[in-house]
Amino acid sequence: EQEIYTETYRPQFHFSPSEMWMNDPNGLVYNDGVYHLFYQYYPEDIVWGPMHWGHAVSKDMVHWKHKPIALYPDEHGLIFSGSAVVDKENTSGFAQNGEIPLVAVFTYHLMEGEREGRTDFQTQGIAYSLDNGESWTKYEGNPVIGNSGIKDFRDPKVFWHEASKSWIMVLVAGDHAKLYRSNDLKDWVHLSDFGKNQGAHGGVWECPDLFPLQVEGTEEQKWVLIISINPGAPNGGSGTQYFIGDFDGTRFISDQEEAKWLDYGADNYAGVTYNNVPNGDRIFIGWMSNWDYARDTPTEVWRSAMTLPRKLSLRKVGEDYRLLNYPLLQVEELASEALISTTKIEPGSSENIKIEGLNQSRIQFMTASKDFTLSMTNDLGETVDVVMDGQSGSLFLDRMNSGKVDFQAEFGNKKHHAPIEFLDDGPYELVIYMDWSSIEVFVDGGLCAMTDQLFPSEPYNQLLITNRDAEKGMEVSVSGMESTW
Ligand code: FRU
Repeated sequence: EQEIYTETYRPQFHFSPSEMWMNDPNGLVYNDGVYHLFYQYYPEDIVWGPMHWGHAVSKDMVHWKHKPIALYPDEHGLIFSGSAVVDKENTSGFAQNGEIPLVAVFTYHLMEGEREGRTDFQTQGIAYSLDNGESWTKYEGNPVIGNSGIKDFRDPKVFWHEASKSWIMVLVAGDHAKLYRSNDLKDWVHLSDFGKNQGAHGGVWECPDLFPLQVEGTEEQKWVLIISINPGAPNGGSGTQYFIGDFDGTRFISDQEEAKWLDYGADNYAGVTYNNVPNGDRIFIGWMSNWDYARDTPTEVWRSAMTLPRKLSLRKVGEDYRLLNYPLLQVEELASEALISTTKIEPGSSENIKIEGLNQSRIQFMTASKDFTLSMTNDLGETVDVVMDGQSGSLFLDRMNSGKVDFQAEFGNKKHHAPIEFLDDGPYELVIYMDWSSIEVFVDGGLCAMTDQLFPSEPYNQLLITNRDAEKGMEVSVSGMESTW
C-alpha cells in the first residue's frame, strides 16, 4: 500500500509512476509468472528529460508493483523506447548458468550538445537480464544497429518469427517503418521498408508494432502494423494508426491507403503489445497522454498514466478489417459494489441520477437507442459528455467544460469525434471506465474506443442520461471500481 496514491487526480486502477515524469510503455514482455512494464522515465522532474527505463511488475497487468529503474543513460546516449524478448534458446549467448536471458532492445539518443551537428544521433542498443528483469547488463558491442544519417530512427519492436526461425525487428525512420532480421539479436540485416505513401503522415512515425491476429470466427490470419504518429491524429496531436496486411518473412504488404485509428480520444499514444503472453492473447497498453499538452497537465508529484490493458482482436466488417481493443476481463472484475442497480431509460426520456463514487466507476449501457447524451457532472456544473448521434454516425467525447482545461490551449478546445457504424438495429454495449483523471469509452466490444484525460475541480457525482430516441430504450448499471494500489 502506498500512502501517496491518494493525491488529487491520482489514478486508482491505472498504472502511474509513484513520482516524476513518464511517457511511452516499453519492453512489454511476460516471463516466468511476471508481466513486465518498462516505461520512458525521467526521475528528476515532472517534465520530459534525459530518458531512463522505469520498471514495474504485475501478475495480472492490473495490480502493479514498482521496481527500481532498469536502464540508465550511458556513453551512447539516453534510453529511448523499445521492446523486450525472452531468448529461450539463448540465441544471443548471454546465458551464463543456464538462465534464460531477457533481452531489451531500445534506441540510444545522443543529446544535442553531444552531436556535433550530426544527424545520426539515434542508434539501437541491447541489454540483458539473467534474473527476470531485476538487474541489467548492457551489451559491450552496442550499438547493434548504427545510423547512416536518418534523423528520426527509433523505437525497435522485436519478436520471434517462428516461420523463418529468426528475430524480426520493426522500427521507424521518420515517415516509414523498416524491418530487420537477426539470428542472435546482435547482428541485424535490413529486409524492407513500408509506408512512405500509405496511411497518415501529418507528423513523424513512432513506436511501431507488428503481429499476427486471427480474424474473429474464422481460420484466417492477418498481420497488424501499429504506428503512432505525432502530430496528425484525427482529434489533434498524438494518435495511433494501424494497417492490416500480410507479412511474408521479409516484407509487410498492405493495400490499405487511408489511415485507420485505434482510438479516437486524444490520450492514447505510443501503445504497443506484450511479447510472450502464455495464452497467446495480444495485449496492448498505451500512454494516456498527448504531446500537445503532456508537460502541462495539472498534477504535481507525477505526470501521466497508462491506459487500461486492452485485448486486441480482428473483425471483418464487409470487406474491411477492423482492429478492436477492449479492457481485459481482470479489469472488469475490479468492478464490485453496485453504485446503482440496473435502471431503464424509456424512449424519449431522461434520468438524473446522483452517484457518489462516479469518479472511480464502470458505467455500462445496453442500448438499442442510437441517439443520446450521457453527462458526468459535479456540483460546480463541470461536465464531461458522451454524445451518440446515430443519424450522422458520430460519437462525441466533449471535455471542453470538464474542469481544469485552460492549462494548455489544445486540451479543451474541441469535442473529440469518432465515426460509428451501426451494422444492425439490435442493442449494443457501451462501457465507460472513469478514473480520477481519465475516461475510457468502448462501443460494441471495442469496435470504437475513445480515451481522454480529465481534471475536474471536484469529483463528478451525477449521471445525466438523455435518450432522444422516441422508440428505443436503454439500460444502465454503475459499479464502483476497486483501487489496485
Ligand atoms: C514517443 C517518443 C518515442 C521516443 C520516446 C522518447 O512518445 O517520442 O518515439 O522513443 O518518446 O521519450
